[in-house]
Amino acid sequence: MRQFPSFPTLRSFLDWCAAREQFLCIADPVSTRHQMTAVHRQVLEAGGPVLRFDHPILPDGSRAKAAVITNLFGTPERVAAGLGVPLDGLEELGAFLAALKSPSPPEGMRDALSRWPMLKTALAARPKLVKSAPVQEEVLEGPDLDLTRLPVQTHWPGDAGPLLTWPVVVTRPHGTAQEDVNRYNAGIYRIQVLSCDRAIMRWLPHRGGAAHHRSWTQAGEKTPVAIVLGADPATLLSSALPLPETHSELTFAGALNGMRARLVPAKTVPLLVPAEAEMVIEGWVSPDETAPEGPFGDHTGYYNKAEPFPVIEVTALTQRRDPLYLSTYTGRPPDEPAIIGEVFNRLALPTIRAQIPEIRDLWLPPAACSYRIAVVSIDKRYPGQARRVMMGLWGMLPQFSYTKMVIVVDDDINPGNWDDIAWALATRMDPGRDVMMLENTPMDYLDFASPEPGLAGKMGIDATIKIGSETHRDWGAVMHMDPKDEAFASDLLSRVLPGLQA
Ligand SMILES: Cc1cc2nc3c(=O)[nH]c(=O)nc-3n(C[C@H](O)[C@H](O)[C@H](O)COP(=O)(O)O)c2cc1C
Repeated sequence: MRQFPSFPTLRSFLDWCAAREQFLCIADPVSTRHQMTAVHRQVLEAGGPVLRFDHPILPDGSRAKAAVITNLFGTPERVAAGLGVPLDGLEELGAFLAALKSPSPPEGMRDALSRWPMLKTALAARPKLVKSAPVQEEVLEGPDLDLTRLPVQTHWPGDAGPLLTWPVVVTRPHGTAQEDVNRYNAGIYRIQVLSCDRAIMRWLPHRGGAAHHRSWTQAGEKTPVAIVLGADPATLLSSALPLPETHSELTFAGALNGMRARLVPAKTVPLLVPAEAEMVIEGWVSPDETAPEGPFGDHTGYYNKAEPFPVIEVTALTQRRDPLYLSTYTGRPPDEPAIIGEVFNRLALPTIRAQIPEIRDLWLPPAACSYRIAVVSIDKRYPGQARRVMMGLWGMLPQFSYTKMVIVVDDDINPGNWDDIAWALATRMDPGRDVMMLENTPMDYLDFASPEPGLAGKMGIDATIKIGSETHRDWGAVMHMDPKDEAFASDLLSRVLPGLQA
């Protein structure tokens, strides 16, 4: 159940963060070229507050009008709060999502749906159409329109130029009506600014936005697009979540917020946009014109090479009178997407368990790009079970297609603790018997360690205790101290050595 107040705007969330001393304004001049990334990285690595740069300096040395917000979701607590729950409420929200995805939810999941009755009702509610909106207080078109005046960061020394990193890209498929919000897609796709009114849209081919673009292209038309900057936290996070196609991210965000989404018609494209956002860039994506996008530093910790992506012709920038510009960087983890990924993985656990019930817990180490290595603990009951779980993850769950290594451990091992994992590998695994290698499986084309783009091997490591026909040897019993003696020791030490950390 939503446990925090609604955050209908980015500003309301910033106020909430400020009340918890998780918000810092930086008055010093800071360049949008590299300097802002350097400051943000150090704050993120320290688990620090949301940052507002009040004096952003553009590459020509002038001061940008809009202040820059970064590190919005720099801690797991803030990501969960953006979804409306504390960290320990994630599992329940995850169970609701699992039930939502399942056409006829099993018994336990029906319970999850019944515990979120308001959210379920809100999902059926139509967004509220408004006539005037804060995001349209200023409408810049023609000669007044200049994307290069926005404080768009150039993040890394090898980057090709300024990059929008937190845009909520709103599209609808060809043949739908502007009012049919349930058919809308909202996704986060980075956008390279080329000039005052041109940019490049980097939606990967399997994304919702790219599919909509194909539908307009097949009809020989350009794709209307609204690029929402500084949306409310629920819209931002819903747009990054892999939601079932039956639910629009915009409606879902309203439901998460406990209120109907407020939308307004865009000024120059046939789309509805969030009325309370900070800025909206409106435009058309070309059916045939592409431009080389990149290179840009990516979440892998390396620069991507330049690749062609479609060009956007911008027709208007609408904004609040004193707009905030929301930004982040992507780079070798930890970065903000890795922290969001950690929380999303916790949300996904009930869905994963619905498919593979013996899974107890799961960790996708952020340091391994949040998806390339998975460690999973299971309730092991029969020989060969660890391999079955590996194949289940790779075969049934699309989000594990690019996980090149799966380590399976028993449920007495914490899969989120490298020391526990190392102990399981060192004491329960034989490389000759317990490693499963596969060749020629699908892989993230960004992984240049793969022999071919998009095609690579996979490795599964069974680090569980071997049982039944898996072994003919006697395995040592795991050592445990009697809990009574543990309690005695804690009590004694708290008196004679109070500073000792267990
Ligand atoms: C900060 C951030 C940047 C992202 N950049 C991209 C990107 O450049 N291209 C892309 O295809 N996905 C990118 N993603 C991932 C997608 O937004 C995400 O997978 C989303 O669920 C896609 O939505 P869709 O399935 O509706 O297309 C990014 C996510 C975040 C949080």
